Amino acid sequence: MYSVKELVESVGLTSVPSSYIFRDTKSDVHCMHVQSETVPIIDFSLLTSHDPDRRSETITRLGNACLEWGFFMVINHGVPEMLRDEMVRETESFFDLREEDKRQYAGKKLFDPIRCGTSFNSNVDKTLLWRDYLKIHVHPHFNAPDKPSGFSKVLREYCQKTRDIAGELLKGISESLGLESGYINEKMRVGSSESHQLLVANMYPPCPQPELAMGLPPHSDHGLLTILMQNGIDGLQVMHEGNWVSINPLPNSFLVNTGDHMEILTNGKYKSVVHRAVVNSKAPRVSIGTAHGPPLDTVVSPAPELMTDGVGQAYLGIKYKNYLELQQSKTLSGKSCLDHLRLSI
Ligand code: OGA
Ligand code: NI
Repeated sequence: MYSVKELVESVGLTSVPSSYIFRDTKSDVHCMHVQSETVPIIDFSLLTSHDPDRRSETITRLGNACLEWGFFMVINHGVPEMLRDEMVRETESFFDLREEDKRQYAGKKLFDPIRCGTSFNSNVDKTLLWRDYLKIHVHPHFNAPDKPSGFSKVLREYCQKTRDIAGELLKGISESLGLESGYINEKMRVGSSESHQLLVANMYPPCPQPELAMGLPPHSDHGLLTILMQNGIDGLQVMHEGNWVSINPLPNSFLVNTGDHMEILTNGKYKSVVHRAVVNSKAPRVSIGTAHGPPLDTVVSPAPELMTDGVGQAYLGIKYKNYLELQQSKTLSGKSCLDHLRLSI
């Protein structure tokens, strides 16, 4: 299986090979309704501020962002721009390595520490995606490819910083639900030495006919939160009130979305957001996401505190590990995994 990058770099590709033509939602790609509405912005420095009024206003904003969008941009997060730039550069260099250097990570399984590949699940995907990926389990056990040589150091630092941000956001989210600030972190053991963090780097090479191919089809993420940044090229779209909204991140911001385990834990109050990545003909796009979840053996089920006032349990509990296996066993498609756990009430 060739990577898309190799395909594009092979001479004279002027059209999309038929195996990449995304028929299902082709009309959707053409006819999308994109609103220019600004997405919620969370000032991280206010969330962690000692001024109780600013903090509580920010928590309200955060709660509304989770309720209405499942998506927000985080500014003033304190992660140095240089670290972010280095992280993007090292990731690009990884994808630029010779195929033989990357081969040791190809064809690996879900829980192997490092794996790279193309599409989502190239064994079962009927249509191939215009996307190559690198996935690294970075916590509780830190892993890093040995090439490029500077990658490991930057990756370790970046992953630590994003874990810290996730921890703080989850405190604010807990409070926005009327729970103790440490509720989610304690219950899900996020921020503990065992919490799970998966880094997913996406490479979307330029595509000669971007309207015919798809980078990542509509899907929701596993985990509680995903924290994403990109190399300056846009392509992310989130579903909001039935429309696709193209995301143009503010400089130096992180893009954050709620995942399926947030939806399960909150018994459906904070739903995971459906999003997708479209491709372009001009420049390679790299995005780097980190998914933050509990330890793999944790059963995630709705919080009893959120099942009051006659609201019944809306989702079955599931071990985090089993959910990841379920998602990876199929083609990526909307919220189809979560549908397995919904209880009719
Ligand atoms: C993902 C994802 C979006 C992007 O990796 O799950 O949704 O913009 N990525 O690359
Ligand atoms: Ni995603």
